[in-house]
Amino acid sequence: MCGIVGSVGLHNPHDYILDGLKLLNYRGYDSAGLAYFEHGIKIYKDKGSVEHLETLVPHNFSSLVAIGHTRWATHGVANKTNSHPHLSYHQKITIVHNGVIENYQEIKNFLLKEKYDFYSETDTEVIANLLDYFYTKNNDMLMSIKESISLINGSYAICLFNDDHPDVLYVMKRSSPLLIGHGDGFNLVSSDASAMIKYTNKFIDLNDKEYGIVTKDNIQIFNEKGEAVNKEYISRDIADIAIDLKGYPHYMVKEIEEIPDVCAKLLSTYYKDGDYHFDKELIDALSKANHIIFIACGTSYHASLVGGRLFESFANISTSEYIASEWANHPRITGEWPFVIMLSQSGETADLISCLKIIEEKKIPSLVITNTEGSTLDRKCQYSLLLHAGKEVSVASTKAYVAQVSLLALIVGAVSKQKYIYEDLLKATSYINNVQNNIEKIRNIASNIKKSESLYFLGRGYDYLLSLEASLKLKEVSYIHSEAFPGGEIKHGPIALIDKNTPVIVFITDEENAVHMRNNIQEVVARGAKVYVISTKSLAKKDDDIVLDDFPYYLTSVVSSTFAFYLAYYTSLLKGYNVDRPRNLAKSVTVE
Ligand code: F6R
Repeated sequence: MCGIVGSVGLHNPHDYILDGLKLLNYRGYDSAGLAYFEHGIKIYKDKGSVEHLETLVPHNFSSLVAIGHTRWATHGVANKTNSHPHLSYHQKITIVHNGVIENYQEIKNFLLKEKYDFYSETDTEVIANLLDYFYTKNNDMLMSIKESISLINGSYAICLFNDDHPDVLYVMKRSSPLLIGHGDGFNLVSSDASAMIKYTNKFIDLNDKEYGIVTKDNIQIFNEKGEAVNKEYISRDIADIAIDLKGYPHYMVKEIEEIPDVCAKLLSTYYKDGDYHFDKELIDALSKANHIIFIACGTSYHASLVGGRLFESFANISTSEYIASEWANHPRITGEWPFVIMLSQSGETADLISCLKIIEEKKIPSLVITNTEGSTLDRKCQYSLLLHAGKEVSVASTKAYVAQVSLLALIVGAVSKQKYIYEDLLKATSYINNVQNNIEKIRNIASNIKKSESLYFLGRGYDYLLSLEASLKLKEVSYIHSEAFPGGEIKHGPIALIDKNTPVIVFITDEENAVHMRNNIQEVVARGAKVYVISTKSLAKKDDDIVLDDFPYYLTSVVSSTFAFYLAYYTSLLKGYNVDRPRNLAKSVTVE
């Protein structure tokens, strides 16, 4: 979703601001803008890409301060007026903002009575004017920020400058990430370390309701009471945050092809010297739990379904899996000793952050499995395990899904003290390359389905859980309507929609379910459907489309998922879409 960059003290901030915005564009956006101070405030912004913004902006600007933004529309359509930066009514404060202000209407009503006019439909302009309102009264920017923080509900990462002090940036943060990068004679601000890593690897991470003043040589941070806070510098593993296509045409295919390496890194991190390698306290807490509640969204939710089944089958611990926005609304807590596992690639998903508040209130032990070190969930959950999958840039998640499932299998191995789970995983990951030998066949299937309006994925057991992810991936990047069903469920309704125009993609990798699945295939073939079968050698039939080497059935999400990811990728390419940035989607969903 939205992205922020800011700089103070850089000689010519043009490159940092525009390159930084380009590095953030993987998050998903629909408009972009920037502002700086050169003989007055200069603002350039429009609907469309950062490349388009670049054509509007002068090549050089010598300004001590500059701020930039990519916007993903929440309040008000995507157009030039609603794009950031926003200027306050008295033309004093120029601001960029990520997040959503929940009580913006209330504040706007108050400001309207105080004779403030508004030009955009955004909640951001309301904050600009609230700051302006206080500043007009007290002429003190830090005091105005403190007063505003006490009135604003919602999430925000804000960077701004004031016309009266164009050598200073101000920052404020709640529930949306914001980092300050420290350089020699300059300081930077961004919602994402990757935008700053070319300039510095020394960061200050703001906590909720902290705010601060940033000059070229100094950073001062305050808490909501206005007390100065001492902040430590942190650094980040560059390999984990670097954004580089490494010669691939798209991030999605690069990330699919990284999956075997991601698994190898995960296995060597969490299995050492012949045994599982986890914090003992975490494994004890999980072993003591009599019910595990999984909470996640989208692809991460699909990984949690696999994790839940693994815990039940191999560790004998019952589980429930919930979509975060639903659980937040109706928090079901089962069992005398519950334990919550949250899965989140980004670690910043707003729906999960609201669940975490409930979990903290109820004092339930919690673990987050995330790919993003230093993210809100990484910092706030009682326990955190990193995926070490390297930055995932493609909006459609691929390698993070496989890493999540693999890490869950390793945790289950540690809790149940069964080493063969590690060995099975090692074997399974070595078969992922096997899918790559079928690229031509996958491309052919993509070509056959690309004109379909609707499509089904079918599977049973773990293959059904994988089908859910395969279906989400295909619809995200190819815009083909797609649904996943357990093989046994189609005759209870969905079969009504099957005809010769409905391709059906079937996974058969589990011996126990193979015969039933073959029967389900006959049911859809009898209604005219064109069926594509992905099976394993020992279960294959003559006409199956893709036959993989045998692997442990419960790891189909680790192996066969690569087929599903390639299928989505090639279908999207054949349809001429922007596969890395599908319409309407954002990488990190920081609004509820
Ligand atoms: C799908 C996808 C999304 C995310 C979901 C949760 O390809 O990427 O469905 O999985 O938005 O995001 P995280 O895992 O960052 O919490």
